[in-house]
Amino acid sequence: MITEAIKEAITTEMCNVLVVDDEPNVLSIIQEMLEGEDYKLISAYSVAEARSVLARHNINIILTDIFLGDGSGAEVMEEAQKIHPESLTIIITGRPTVQNAIMMMKKGAYDYLAKPFSIETLKLALRRANEKIRLERENINLKEMMSFYRISEAMGSTIELNVLLKLILDSTIKEFEADVASMYFLEEKGGGLDLKATVGIKDDSIHELVSDHSYSSCQRTVETKCPMIFNDPDPDYASDDRTIKSSLCQPLMARGKILGALIVIRTKNSHPFSQGQLTGLGLLASKAAAAIESSNLYEDLKGTYIATVEALANAIEARDSYTRGHTERVYILSKILADELGWTEAELGDLKIGGILHDIGKIGVPDSILNKPGRLTAEEFEIMRTHPEKGARMIESIPFLRPALPFIKYHHERHDGKGYPYGLKGDDIPLPGRLLAVVDTIDAVTSDRPYRKGRTLAEAMEEIKSYSGTQFNPEVVEACMRAYSKGKLDSLFQEDT
Ligand SMILES: [Fe+2]
Repeated sequence: MITEAIKEAITTEMCNVLVVDDEPNVLSIIQEMLEGEDYKLISAYSVAEARSVLARHNINIILTDIFLGDGSGAEVMEEAQKIHPESLTIIITGRPTVQNAIMMMKKGAYDYLAKPFSIETLKLALRRANEKIRLERENINLKEMMSFYRISEAMGSTIELNVLLKLILDSTIKEFEADVASMYFLEEKGGGLDLKATVGIKDDSIHELVSDHSYSSCQRTVETKCPMIFNDPDPDYASDDRTIKSSLCQPLMARGKILGALIVIRTKNSHPFSQGQLTGLGLLASKAAAAIESSNLYEDLKGTYIATVEALANAIEARDSYTRGHTERVYILSKILADELGWTEAELGDLKIGGILHDIGKIGVPDSILNKPGRLTAEEFEIMRTHPEKGARMIESIPFLRPALPFIKYHHERHDGKGYPYGLKGDDIPLPGRLLAVVDTIDAVTSDRPYRKGRTLAEAMEEIKSYSGTQFNPEVVEACMRAYSKGKLDSLFQEDT
């Protein structure tokens, strides 16, 4: 929920001062002394009352007596440090001793005033505290702006959802000095929450605690569409690194629609999150939600394109009765070899489109050649050899399909330069072409043809090996042999196992 404290922090620049003293006349004297100054004074007569004020208002400065009827000024200061970490406490007392002053300063008091004090002394102390708060706030704002800038920059570097989410959470943990960050997405049906990504949970002993806290906070945030800040109410837990010290939760909203929630948690870092950081996380969450929505739209678009690609691949296979199932097998085999060769996620994504589309140019080859039940004549073979270039022409104007081009153009090139259509040699052949040449041959050797029965996988491996360095790139052949010896190809060729 947006607390009153946040609203105050956002809407006013005035400094809020909590004056705590159990003597009513002291409060009225201070009020008189500060009349006409830019301070909003709020009074409390006891520790209990002060706690209640601190919970409801955004307090910047606390003026408190050391000795109060129901406790001490130290308790008020501790509570203030917990709820408003940016606040400063000035101790006032009628019994000044060096020990008292040292004790309170050690506990984090900013200044110390001995009763009776003059108007000037009070005003000076408040002005100094106010200036320190202002400078610290500027510092924090600058740091938060830099964090926001860095995370925003990182978000712009990818559109892949899983990569994007990990990047957002990694950057958030770093910039917010948190220990755990998680993102929950609202389920499309049912209204529950799905943990979409999380980083930082390593310690099993608090795993359940962190999960429960994350889920319930995000659920409340999604229901109310408002941010939440949590600071451990029990100071005894402060040194316990197996509990949740502080957390911030922000809804993920895009175009008025709630997508889920983002939560950051401190389990080891005992410094509580501030209201300013909650606001900072809000800016980040709105930027993240927009990036997530773009990524979702991109995924939808990609799905549509993949469906188009598959429809095109089906069109090839519908015409070429001898190679039915070839496209799918080639893709699966290519992926196994690409994994073995250590291709990146992005390269594997291109492989899916490239593997499916590599023979798309066969659409331009006449049926009489494509489905000829015997060996092709030299003239027919010349026509068949045009399919890589025909395929490239078909898709080069479609930006999304362009990653398939090297697969289409170079899959009939040979390592010794005797391939077609370009006659490229060795490492001049782009990697997709080197890979598909091997895969295509394995599939052709093991497939049945009207004029011959398909050979075994072991025989195909022998053939690949014997042409390593002439027809095939030796590195790809080696990767193929490794995959074969590990049994990775067995599932595709059940009859050989
Ligand atoms: Fe081909």
